[in-house]
Amino acid sequence: MREIINFNTNWKFTKEWNDNIKIEKLNGENITLPHTVAEIPLHYFSESDTWLVSGYQNTFKYDKSKLQGKRVLINFEAAMAACEVFVNEKSFGEHKGGYLPFVYDITDELKDGENIIAVKLDSTEREDIPPFGNEIDYLCYGGIYREVQIIIVDDVSIENVMLTGLANQNITGKIRIRNTKKESVKETIAINLYNREYHICEIKKEITLKKGELFTDIKIDEHIDSDRIELWDIDNPRLYRLEVSLPNEDSVSIKIGFRDAKFTENGFFLNDKRVKLRGLNRHQSFPYVGYAMPERIQKKDADILKFDLGLNIVRSSHYPASRHFLDRCDEIGLMVFEEIPGWQHIGDKKWQSVSIENVKDMIERDFHHASIIIWGVRINESQDNHSFYKETNKKAHELDKTRQTGGVRYLVGSELLEDVYTMNDFNYDGVADPLRAQKFVTKLDKNVPYMITEYNGHMFPTKMQDCEERLMEHTKRHFEIINAVAIDKHISGSTGWCAFDYHTHYNFGSGDRICYHGVYDMFRNPKLAASAYSSQMSTRNEIILEPITIYARGERAIGGISPLMVATNCDYVELYYRDELMAKEYPATGKYQGLNHAPVIIKMEVNIPGVSDMGWGDMKLIGYIDGKPAIEKNYLNNPTFKGLEVKADDDEINAVSGGSAWDSTRITVKAVDAIGNRLPYINEAITIEVKGAGELIGNDNPVLEGGYYSFWVKSNKSKGSIKVTVKNKRVKEATIEIKSI
Ligand code: GAL
Repeated sequence: MREIINFNTNWKFTKEWNDNIKIEKLNGENITLPHTVAEIPLHYFSESDTWLVSGYQNTFKYDKSKLQGKRVLINFEAAMAACEVFVNEKSFGEHKGGYLPFVYDITDELKDGENIIAVKLDSTEREDIPPFGNEIDYLCYGGIYREVQIIIVDDVSIENVMLTGLANQNITGKIRIRNTKKESVKETIAINLYNREYHICEIKKEITLKKGELFTDIKIDEHIDSDRIELWDIDNPRLYRLEVSLPNEDSVSIKIGFRDAKFTENGFFLNDKRVKLRGLNRHQSFPYVGYAMPERIQKKDADILKFDLGLNIVRSSHYPASRHFLDRCDEIGLMVFEEIPGWQHIGDKKWQSVSIENVKDMIERDFHHASIIIWGVRINESQDNHSFYKETNKKAHELDKTRQTGGVRYLVGSELLEDVYTMNDFNYDGVADPLRAQKFVTKLDKNVPYMITEYNGHMFPTKMQDCEERLMEHTKRHFEIINAVAIDKHISGSTGWCAFDYHTHYNFGSGDRICYHGVYDMFRNPKLAASAYSSQMSTRNEIILEPITIYARGERAIGGISPLMVATNCDYVELYYRDELMAKEYPATGKYQGLNHAPVIIKMEVNIPGVSDMGWGDMKLIGYIDGKPAIEKNYLNNPTFKGLEVKADDDEINAVSGGSAWDSTRITVKAVDAIGNRLPYINEAITIEVKGAGELIGNDNPVLEGGYYSFWVKSNKSKGSIKVTVKNKRVKEATIEIKSI
C-alpha cells in the first residue's frame, strides 16, 4: 500500500537561512505552498528582490511502530533554484535546478515522534545552475513554488511509470521498481488499463529484482487488442487510466493516450493526419507571486490557450511546466513542445551535466503525457556545441523512442543534431518577408522536419494601453506570420512569441521588468492581437467579431478608423455608421491565402463622415454566417465611464485542508461605458477589499491598465464566503461573492 500525504501546510519560512533551522523550531512566518520567497510589485522592482538564501521548516510526526518496514519518501515538485533538504540535521545533499522534482528516502533519519525537516533554498541565480550564468530574458523568482508530498511505500515499490500509448494500440516504455530489500526478489507487476470505469485489459509481468540493486527498469512493449481504444486527438483527447500495481498493493495510476506524432519534411502529422501546428510560447510567471500559482491557475492557462485562442500547441518556454498544466493539456487536446531550462548561455562542463540531468528528469517525469509531442534538448537560442548537444540528444533518444527531439536556435546554419529543425524566425519587421526560406536558414540542401518556434516578440512589444495604430500593427504582424506558416507545406507549424507578458531582467523588456510581448497581458487579459488567433477558431466553438479599434474620432494619426481590420470567423461583415449601412466586406482571402478566416479589411473611401463634419457617430458591426446575422458589436461615439464590471473565473475554490496547497481564482475588473465596452485609457485607481474566507494577492489599490485590472484571491483554512468589493469613487462599487468550500 502507498500513502500520499500532502505536505503543503504548516511550513515556517524565513528570508534568511541560518543553521539553527536544521535543529531548532523556527519562529518564522506560517506559510502554505506554493510559495514565493518574496512577493514583488507588478513592475519597477529589482530582480535581486528574490535573490535570497532562505529557510523553510516543517515537522513530520513519525510513528515507528505503525510504519515498521515502510519507507518514507519526501517529494519536492520544484524549488527554485538550489535546494538542500535536512532531516533532523542530516543533509540530503544539494539539488540543483528549479523546475523538476526531486525525491529523498528519509526513513533512516527519522526518529519516533516529531522530526524537523528543514530546507535551505538558494534563489540567487547561481551561475552553476541552468538557466543562470548570464543575464536571461525571464525571471525565475525563488521558492518552493510547487507542491510537496510525503509518500509512504513498502520496501518494494513503484518508483516511476514511464509508459505511453501509440496509435497501433501498443503500450510502450518502462516501469522503474525500487527495491530496498537486501535480497533479490521475484514479483509480478500488473498493468491494468481502464476506459473511464470500464476495465479493458490486464497485462502481467514476472520480474526479478536483483540483490543490491536499488532500481530496476522493466521494459514494456505490449499490444492491446481492444475495440475500446480511441486515439488521442486534438478534437477528441481520449485518455485512459493505466494502473500499475504490485502484489503488496503498491499502485500508481497515470493517464495515457494512444497516438502517433511525427514531424516530417512535409509537415507535422498526428495519427497520420496532417495538422498545422499553431501556438504560442508560455512563461509560467504571474504578477506578485511569480511562479507560485496553484493547480487551478496552471490549468486555466492551458484553457485560455486552447479555448479562448483556439491553439493546438504551446511551447513550454524555456523550462518544463507544472504537472497540472500538462495534465490539462492532455485532457483538452493541447499539444506541447517541452524543453529544458536555459536561455542562450551555456556554462562549463559541470553546468552542462546539470542540463543533461534536466533532460533525463524532464523525460522521466513527463513521458506519459499524450500532449507532449517533442522534447526541446538545446538551451534556447544557444550557440552550437557539438559534444553537449550530441549528449542531450542521445539521452533523450535513449529514454524515449517514441518522440522526436528539437532544439531551439536562432542562428542560421546551426548544426542539426535533432530530429526537427526548430527555429526562432524574427525576420519580420512589418516590411520584410514574414519568414526566411527554410534552406537559407538550415544551410542544408534538402528540406528537413522544420518548425518556427518564435516570431514577433521583441520585434514589436505592445502594451494593453498602447495606441490604436500600435495595437493594429501588433495584430497584423501575428496575422502575417500565421498566414505565411500556413501556406508553406514544409513548415510543421509555429509557436509565436508569446502568450502572456512576463517578468524579466532589466536588460530586456520595457525597463520596468516586464516584457510586453504577449497577446495577453500578465493578468491574462487579451490585447487586440489575441483575436488574430481566436478568429481562426471554427464558429462552432465561438463566433468572433473583433474590430481592431478602440473607436474614437481622433485616436489615430489624422483621425478616423479607416482602414478597419476586423478579426472574425464570420462569412462577411456589415458596418453601420449612425445606423446607416456604410460597408459590406468579405474576408481578405487574397492577401491571407493560408488562413481559414482571413481578417476583413474595411476601407472607407473618404474615411467615415464624422471625421470631417465633427459629428462623430455610433458604429455597429454585424457578422454574418450563412447569410444570417450571427454576432453584433456596438460602439458609442461619446463613451463615458459608467461602471466597473467585475467577474470571477470561478464561483468556488477549495479551502486549504489536509495538507493541500492553497487554491485561487482570478477576478477581472473592467472599466466600461454605458453599453459595456472597455475604456482603454482610463488610468484610474481602484480599491479592492477581500473579506471572509480568502485573501487578496498583491496590490489593494492598483491602477487600471488599458481599462483592465485582474487579481487573484487565494483560499486559506477557513471555509465560507469570500466577499470581494471593488471601488472607484466615480462609479458604483461592485461586489461579488465566491465560495471557499
Ligand atoms: C527570443 C527568446 C525569447 C524571448 C524573445 C523575445 O530571442 O528566445 O526567450 O527573449 O526573443 O522576443
